[in-house]
Amino acid sequence: MKPAAAEASVVRAVTVLRAGGLVAFPTETVYGLGADASNAEAVKKVFAAKGRPHDHPLIVHIASSAQLTAWARDIPPSAHTLAKEFWPGPLTLILKRAPGVLDLVTGGQDTVALRVPSHPLAQTLLHAFGGGLVGPSANRFGRISATTADHVREEFGAGVDCVLDGGACEVGIESSIVDLSGARPALLRPGAISAGQIESALGAPLAAPDAASPRAPGTLAKHYAPRTPVMLVEGNLIDELARSFARQGKRIAVLARNARQPLISQLVWIAAPDAAGAYGHDLYANLRRLDAAGCDVMLVEQPPPDLVWAAIHDRLARAAASAV
Ligand code: TXA
Ligand code: MG
Repeated sequence: MKPAAAEASVVRAVTVLRAGGLVAFPTETVYGLGADASNAEAVKKVFAAKGRPHDHPLIVHIASSAQLTAWARDIPPSAHTLAKEFWPGPLTLILKRAPGVLDLVTGGQDTVALRVPSHPLAQTLLHAFGGGLVGPSANRFGRISATTADHVREEFGAGVDCVLDGGACEVGIESSIVDLSGARPALLRPGAISAGQIESALGAPLAAPDAASPRAPGTLAKHYAPRTPVMLVEGNLIDELARSFARQGKRIAVLARNARQPLISQLVWIAAPDAAGAYGHDLYANLRRLDAAGCDVMLVEQPPPDLVWAAIHDRLARAAASAV
């Protein structure tokens, strides 16, 4: 988008937000479905548009860490350390909520999720708006996140007042979520910023979430799910499985990495990029394309076990969880 056009669309988006409307906006991770986080009626529209249960809390997006104190209290030094290192960027911090933060936003919990996105259009929007924006991923509840403006329109049609088009999201996978509200920092959702990077910034290990951690319902199994049943399989089994499904007259979608395409009909095949970053960038678009082919089953080749693939393993496991 040309600067003048971007400016005009942001002005319009701010008008919509101030009037309590919904604005989908790009971030470096995925598109967010934005609404004024301090307007209960506006936030309700987000839940309605997504079909999301009300006890699923929302991330509040802010322009910079200077706004932290408007949303959080008892902010520990570790929050400033991580904010300095990774904001603006794909990291969400869970902190104790400031008085006045809507129950609707926090799911009634005493914590709030905060993030400063780095996408230039998100930054322009947040600075122009001035306040916080709730921004769940711009997809209907449980489904594949949107990484382009077209995907947002596919999800919501006229259900969103304004879609800011910032192109394809650079990272393609949702932010890492770190809980700093408890005794020890815990990783609630793996994302683009690895556990190792967060641990080295903190100078301390991350705990796994425990019973005392804030609920992060969006991190439960069965999420990010295509309509087509997904099976995660080792590369050496793809050929055999595809042939066996084909013999049963089934149509098969495959997200492959190294496996070679078997010469059978009824097959929709995407060869995913080799590197984890590029794979993540394309992941949701690839799942959408394969899903749109309307096959009977989707085979996804298991990526390597290395830690750089952690967030991708997490999303693929959830996509496959709906099939069983
Ligand atoms: O990258 C992202 O984080 C994207 C972009 C748009 O910023 N947003 C996103 O939002 O993924 P959503 O709503 O799809 O996922 C937010 C996750 C959910 O798993 C939710 O349960 C968790 O954050 N969450 C939100 N507030 C929380 C809180 N106070 N305590 C624990 N988890 C929380
Ligand atoms: Mg989501």
